[in-house]
Amino acid sequence: MSSIIQKNSQQFLYQQVIELIEAMQSAGSLRAGDKLPSLRKLSQQLDVSIPTIKQAYIELERLGRVEARPKSGYFIRSGGFDISTPKKPKFISRPVPVRCQTLIEEAYDAVHSTNILPLGISHPVMACPADKNLARIMRRVLASAGPKVMAYGPMDGYLPLKRQVVQRYLERGVAARHEDLVITNGAQEALAIAVQCVAKPGDIVAVESPTYFGILELIENLGMMALEIPTCDEGLCLDDLVESLDKHDVKACLFSSLINNPTGAGLSDEKRQQLVEIVESRNIPLIEDDVYSELHFFDKDTIPMQAYSKKGLVITCSSFSKTAAPSYRIGWVLSNRIEQRAKGFKRAISCSSSLLNQWVINEYLRSGDFDRNIRRLRQILRTNKDRMRNLIAECFPPKTRVSDPKGGGVVWVELPVGCDSTALFHKAVEAGISITPGTLFSASGKYKRHTRISYGLPWTIEVEAAIEKLGQIAYQLLE
Ligand SMILES: Cc1ncc(COP(=O)(O)O)c(C=O)c1O
Repeated sequence: MSSIIQKNSQQFLYQQVIELIEAMQSAGSLRAGDKLPSLRKLSQQLDVSIPTIKQAYIELERLGRVEARPKSGYFIRSGGFDISTPKKPKFISRPVPVRCQTLIEEAYDAVHSTNILPLGISHPVMACPADKNLARIMRRVLASAGPKVMAYGPMDGYLPLKRQVVQRYLERGVAARHEDLVITNGAQEALAIAVQCVAKPGDIVAVESPTYFGILELIENLGMMALEIPTCDEGLCLDDLVESLDKHDVKACLFSSLINNPTGAGLSDEKRQQLVEIVESRNIPLIEDDVYSELHFFDKDTIPMQAYSKKGLVITCSSFSKTAAPSYRIGWVLSNRIEQRAKGFKRAISCSSSLLNQWVINEYLRSGDFDRNIRRLRQILRTNKDRMRNLIAECFPPKTRVSDPKGGGVVWVELPVGCDSTALFHKAVEAGISITPGTLFSASGKYKRHTRISYGLPWTIEVEAAIEKLGQIAYQLLE
């Protein structure tokens, strides 16, 4: 490699380094999302000084070709392709009863069928699984705790775990108490409890549009009405929200305003503070679905909306499904306003959550391995996100748009006019690939040209081949 750098050339050494990196990009040996070698390593490989390499990286950053990530290094940006993000949906919001199509079952079946590449599920921890660590801890807990751990646990959760979850919220600026936290079977049960604590059948619940289909299924099954509020690149549109709240008698808001599923869009801290003020000034409870908050791509940790609440109307629901393992089914509701009702609901619905699983997660947190894995997972997801966006831009028909997530493990793809995402879904399943059709993310059948694709899995040539195949199918659908 060192012979490539000509020390007696007229060209500055740092420019030669830049050209070398560009050549590697053109040849495909460096791709969007890849990490550049450390300053020290490249300086040794090229036999030039560290300041020279640093100058090259800074210049590449100035040109927008690479990005510096604090404490992580320099990464190749998605470049050379103009990847537009999906357009803001335009519609007049009005409350509608939700009708989740049979398509939801088909989408779940597809994910769980054998020999299928599961790009249709949001299971981001798959990109950096914790299974070996968790299995080791599980064996240790079973050996040391004995029959105690096989008993019913406390109805509102295993206290040491509750304390640790609360501690994590304290570190993020929320004055949480363990008495206000109820452990649930995943975030889905937490959401079910929270929404039933503040609304009844027939009531209107405001949701983001698009939103996670599990939320829509919940609203449908509880006989409530959904009021869809448009989202844009920056997340929920606050002006649209205000207009809708002025018009309709909304009994609760249920938002993932930090990292939306499916778009990955998220409001800034200021906007989320504004959001809390908007709903609390109208005395409307706000259920914060916070499952992806630890998987953000920001430089600093995020502040839950609960921290901005002055009236205690914010209820936070989350889980370890996206950060440790969904099969453990450990989640929680945090609220200092509805905690007694939440405990009652929890007892009535499922008595208590698995003590064994809570015990294991508690040990996993205590060991520090949870935080170490999360840090790695975030880096992998961020790299995968860039690769996925770039590859879709390369392989899909022109005018395809792809969201640029602020975290999580999925992208939201808007297909060109004439390309139906349900047809894409069916043809993809035939080809051994699962994706999630867009209409599942709307209460009123919107997003027929959108699809959600997961990058939350190890990046392999099979994933690349699957995206190429999806692109080919999308082209065929346009013919
Ligand atoms: C936004 C959102 N909320 C809630 C859930 C449900 O989480 P859990 O598996 O913890 O029930 C999911 C799962 O995909 C999700 O994406």
